[in-house]
Amino acid sequence: MNRVFPLPKLYRQSILRPLPRISLVTARRFATKGSDHPTEDKPRSPTEGKAVAEHAKLDEGAKSGVSEEVLAPLQNIPTPELFSLKNRTIIVTGAGRGLGLTLAHGFIESGAHVRAIDILSKPTEPYWSTASSLATSKGLTLEYHNLDITSETSTSKTFSKLFSSAPSNAPIRGLYISAGINHFLPAEEFSAEQFRRVIDINLTGTFISAQAFAKEWFKKYGDKGEILKAGEGASVVFTGSMSGHIANAGLMCAPYGASKAGVNQLVRNLAMEWSKKGIRVNSLSPGYIQTTLNNAVLAEHPEYTDLWVSQSLLGRLSTADEFRGPATFLLSDASSFMTGADIISDGGHTAT
Ligand SMILES: NC(=O)c1ccc[n+]([C@@H]2O[C@H](COP(=O)([O-])OP(=O)(O)OC[C@H]3O[C@@H](n4cnc5c(N)ncnc54)[C@H](O)[C@@H]3O)[C@@H](O)[C@H]2O)c1
Repeated sequence: MNRVFPLPKLYRQSILRPLPRISLVTARRFATKGSDHPTEDKPRSPTEGKAVAEHAKLDEGAKSGVSEEVLAPLQNIPTPELFSLKNRTIIVTGAGRGLGLTLAHGFIESGAHVRAIDILSKPTEPYWSTASSLATSKGLTLEYHNLDITSETSTSKTFSKLFSSAPSNAPIRGLYISAGINHFLPAEEFSAEQFRRVIDINLTGTFISAQAFAKEWFKKYGDKGEILKAGEGASVVFTGSMSGHIANAGLMCAPYGASKAGVNQLVRNLAMEWSKKGIRVNSLSPGYIQTTLNNAVLAEHPEYTDLWVSQSLLGRLSTADEFRGPATFLLSDASSFMTGADIISDGGHTAT
């Protein structure tokens, strides 16, 4: 007996839908025997570099009636230059020492003017002077601003001053947030005050800084939600941590892990709210970095060195300079289509 089975709705829609319109160029190609359609290509060497869908690219232009230039605003910029931070000023929090100061130095190397912010009354020497000399030698400016990023009022005032005083040929277009603290204690011994302090600096301070940046940006460029082209707008980068993704075996720092997981989620929320208003928001999550502070922890607990190294797929800890690449990538036009994302740079620690 023949039984009629009703087709699932989606399938019915797909077979009953009229065939898509094929542009003239495509039609002619399909009609020509021995055409250069990729399915008819002979096997190609992997190094040949021939685009598989070159014909499709041409057809796109023909169909939409716009030039390739409009479709790809960055296409005429050579790849290495996409990573440049020239003609822009970057604010870096936590830039008085450690990762923040190393990155500030790296951003100057990439051509940015830098505005360093830290709660320390003075930045750490000799690193600051080295960065300062580099800036001068490149005709760039590096300024230090003493600020506690947990203070809404002071942060708002400082960011307002920074936006209005930035060089006219290098407006503020980026914020890198490195300010953060850790506190080691067994979870059952943390007081609420100690717990709140970590959250206050790492998570609330990150939010306050990003919000102060966004308010100044919207004040200057509007917040009407005009979609910007690739290479336009600003980039805000948070420092997460692999500790926001995993509990570091053997380390007792519950509020730190919670704060960094919060930072990773904050990225997604702010990206959802601000990306169409011109601000991309992403984070960089490092693994263990050999900073002065971590070296002090390792001196106190030599057993951690072996543990941390054994957990790294690269078999070593990182140094702060290794994060110049991913941080510069996220601030630059090289990451023009990235927002709401996290780059985990942890030597493979969280992969296993
Ligand atoms: N060191 C690591 O192994 C590691 C790993 C992953 C993530 N991180 C993150 O990287 C960032 C930098 O860490 P680091 O190792 O360079 O530490 P660090 O202590 O050397 O640097 C942090 C800086 O933030 C500043 N800061 C602290 N509270 C502040 C506040 N309220 N206002 C303004 N500035 C304040 C400090 O004065 C310091 O200069 C932190 O967010 C940290 O959580 C570090």
